[in-house]
Amino acid sequence: MGLEFALERIKAYIDMYIKECGNDEVLNLSSHLSQGKMLRSKLLLAISGVSEDSLRACALIEMIQSASLLHDDVIDEAQTRRQKPSINALFGNKNAIMLGDVLYSKAFYELSCLDVRLAQSVSSAVVRLSIGEIEDVSLASRFHTDKQAYIKMCGNKTAALIVAAAECGAILKGLNKNIYRIYGENLGIAFQIIDDILDFTQDSKTLGKPSMSDFKEGKVTLPLMLMYEKLDENEREIVQNLWAKELSEEQEIWIKVRMQKHNAISQSIDEAKVYANKAFMAVANENNAKLQEIITQMIERTF
Ligand code: FPP
Ligand code: MG
Repeated sequence: MGLEFALERIKAYIDMYIKECGNDEVLNLSSHLSQGKMLRSKLLLAISGVSEDSLRACALIEMIQSASLLHDDVIDEAQTRRQKPSINALFGNKNAIMLGDVLYSKAFYELSCLDVRLAQSVSSAVVRLSIGEIEDVSLASRFHTDKQAYIKMCGNKTAALIVAAAECGAILKGLNKNIYRIYGENLGIAFQIIDDILDFTQDSKTLGKPSMSDFKEGKVTLPLMLMYEKLDENEREIVQNLWAKELSEEQEIWIKVRMQKHNAISQSIDEAKVYANKAFMAVANENNAKLQEIITQMIERTF
């Protein structure tokens, strides 16, 4: 079965699970969700191959990913997700949270009907990603340059569910899950660093959300930290004053110019590549070229 067809089957499973919840309002709300790049599904399938169980596991992980983004958009007060108004923007925070709860709970019910190790892997991941979100909120309460705390938060917030997808693939295929956990952890951290770079380098149309939204939401990401370290006292004060606020076009340009001038973007790319390489090394003996392709696609992506 080709990958595109497998992804369509996963979407069909997601639709089926949502219909099974048996509620018109849930159906209506979820019709406004748009499916993302399905990275976690591609990863799981690259490891396990296609079977009914792997397609179901992918659908359930995608539903949990959607649930976490529904909650995240409420927390971040985000108005746009994947080029469309977010559910919280369209229907309010209460509906967004409850739709997240429905998707999350239904996914766990269905996971518990598969190999119990899949439910254990994914539920441990959700604990981690929720902790990651708490860390994200806490780090956004002040301007900081704590790289270690940032990397730890990326591991929890983003890598955790990627680890689970890789681990579930390994479980379904009977492979050594520890190798795939290390691969997923490093891939996930690299993925988040690239995400944080794109926030500064891409325009709003390409991103599907306003450019520099991390900066405006009060998040200190790796490119910002690396730039900040190079600024003089006067410029540092300017950055601190602009941070966590709406910006004019001139102010955005002011920051982007300094990002380039101080090589903060290229240094961040190098840092992402360090993690990508660790991911590569973890699976070097697994004889699976798709795992390298996934790393390359993720590093070279533009949105
Ligand atoms: C996106 O971060 C957010 C996440 C990757 C994880 C969010 C997790 C939670 C809210 C916990 C969910 C809990 C349950 C029970 C499902 P971001 O804001 O950096 O990325 P963005 O720019 O795509 O919004
Ligand atoms: Mg967000």
